[in-house]
Amino acid sequence: MQIAVLTIFPTMFDLFWEYGIVRRAIADGHVQTEAMDIRAFTDDRHHVTDDRPYGGGCGMVMKPEPLARAIETARQRIEGGLTVLMSPQGDKLSQQTAAGLARQRGLIFICGRYEGVDARIVRRHVDYELSIGDYVLSGGEVAAMVAMDAVIRLLPGVLGGAESAARDSFSDGLLEHEHYTRPREFEDQTVPEVLLSGNHEAIARWRHRMSLIETLLRRPDLLERRRLDEREQRILRQWSQILERILRHQAAHRPDSLSGRQ
Ligand code: ADE
Repeated sequence: MQIAVLTIFPTMFDLFWEYGIVRRAIADGHVQTEAMDIRAFTDDRHHVTDDRPYGGGCGMVMKPEPLARAIETARQRIEGGLTVLMSPQGDKLSQQTAAGLARQRGLIFICGRYEGVDARIVRRHVDYELSIGDYVLSGGEVAAMVAMDAVIRLLPGVLGGAESAARDSFSDGLLEHEHYTRPREFEDQTVPEVLLSGNHEAIARWRHRMSLIETLLRRPDLLERRRLDEREQRILRQWSQILERILRHQAAHRPDSLSGRQ
């Protein structure tokens, strides 16, 4: 996949390309990346990329002409690429969105600065607006890095085992289970016995159970949206019965209940 990032701070990406899975994906030829300097597409002496907003108000707006030229050039280099504007107004990034982006022929990320980009650019030149969350960053660069990281690790062949991406949190609608490595005992805490048992089936069942409880406790909204399989429904029913029992027991032993009265 080819990815271009349009930015007024292209050197911000120099380090990003150089580490971990992203670096390896580039080195192995799974992805070709390029940061394009929007300033190179200005035609004035001072390479100005922003201007005052029509109608007044504070902040500046990214000028349309350099951006349109930069996008046009990126489109010529990345045929059939999707133009993605990083913006807090966009669709929120999720594992599903990342998977959708990973299926594109190529990606052109546009990083806004200042108050945003001229609306005519969004209307005419942007295919998709993407946000990484409900907060405002001072520019789209860090957001584009987040999106690229999530996308690149999903490209076929990038992660070693074909399974590792499939097992990530969110990919099947559950959070990941806990992980342990050596030593067996650390600060008075031991590794769960089952993980030392060598019984792969039992380990898989334990991991699935842990994923389920992590998700229930931290992100019940994910469970509500998920199609639970038979086993998951059975486990949740068991937990629900245990909780019911605890609550009934509590109610029966309240100080003002019959059995609790002096
Ligand atoms: N630019 C500024 N804030 C952003 C956000 N939350 N997501 C994507 N791009 C942004």
